[in-house]
Amino acid sequence: MPLAAVDAAVPAASAAAVLCSVGVWVPPHVVTNEELARRLDTDDAWIRTRTGIRARHVLAPGQATSDLAVEAGRRALTDADGEGADGEGADGEGVDGVDAVIVATTTPDRTCPATAPLVASRLGLTGAAAFDVAAVCTGFVYGLATAAGLIASGVARRVLLIGADAYSTLVDPMDRANAVIFGDGAGAVLLRAGHADEPGALGPFDLGSDGTHEDMITVAAGGSRVPLTPETSRADRHFAMRGKEVYRHAVTRMTESARTVLDRAGRKTDDVDLFVPHQANLRILRSVAEELGLPLERCATHVESVGNTGAASIPLALADAAARGTLARGDRLLLTAFGGGLTWGSCLLTWP
Ligand code: UT7
Repeated sequence: MPLAAVDAAVPAASAAAVLCSVGVWVPPHVVTNEELARRLDTDDAWIRTRTGIRARHVLAPGQATSDLAVEAGRRALTDADGEGADGEGADGEGVDGVDAVIVATTTPDRTCPATAPLVASRLGLTGAAAFDVAAVCTGFVYGLATAAGLIASGVARRVLLIGADAYSTLVDPMDRANAVIFGDGAGAVLLRAGHADEPGALGPFDLGSDGTHEDMITVAAGGSRVPLTPETSRADRHFAMRGKEVYRHAVTRMTESARTVLDRAGRKTDDVDLFVPHQANLRILRSVAEELGLPLERCATHVESVGNTGAASIPLALADAAARGTLARGDRLLLTAFGGGLTWGSCLLTWP
């Protein structure tokens, strides 16, 4: 998708964030349900019935979240530049015109520093503002809102947002409850300043959280509350989730958030051409779509082949829908996510 020109006449303080391009990357190594069943007490039928997942992609040893993020970010920048372009975007600004790089992740390369500055430098964007957003599986929607804020305030004209997660580095490979659900991947979008009524525009947004359930999705040790020690148990070092409770909260919060953002925009469910929910679990997606009164044909599902990829799941699902040829310019998309924190969020997007 080529980058549309930045309109210099748009006053920065009222600019909307407009989607220019999407780039995605999943590591080549695929782990099927059958492979998992060879080392865990599980089977393909259980995984497919409970989650809808058939396979997930997993990082090679020695790789990290930034490796995924760089690949996805490069594809978004290349896509925005257009095929055969001379290193400059369609607005003539090129990579140098990217003012900020945001990485939404729960699996940063290190606890300190953030992953985004390294990703920015590896993309040739040293000097750009760069920081991480931590909102677990809602990270991409929080990142979109953050990018929109940077653009609306005039702090940035072009922002590269990358949702990237490598849950294979956080989940105990012997934990059958979680090892079957998660996969690794990254999805990036390039956003620019534009008008709220043009194709590609994002908004309005709805964001929320409930920290009283902080331990529902958690890694118990390794932070300032419970630092890692040689005595830290295997369970406390790894990702833990109370699946059944998460399931119930996910359906309720995603449905409410989707309705809130539609109300805010003065829209109805019928106005939504494609619902693009965080790809947590096929049953959750179907329940939310049903609650909203959306037919399943208008609900993007990509979880079957990549699993739950955390902050990467919405851009991966967007790219999948685009690759299937199901998206037309001007289509109205509803993006909704839910994750640890608890956190949730939604926004509307007109397809560019
Ligand atoms: O981004 C948000 C991310 N979170 C999610 O998407 C998770 C939301 N929750 C879920 O998707 C579901 O709760 C799960 C898929 C995690 C689990 O499905 P469930 O229908 O809620 O199953 P359950 O946890 O109640 O477990 C049912 C049984 C248990 O055995 P018992 O106690 O009934 O004997 C589990 O031990 O299934 C067992 N089980 C498994 N069996 C085979 C749990 N994991 C597995 C497994 N294979 N991988």
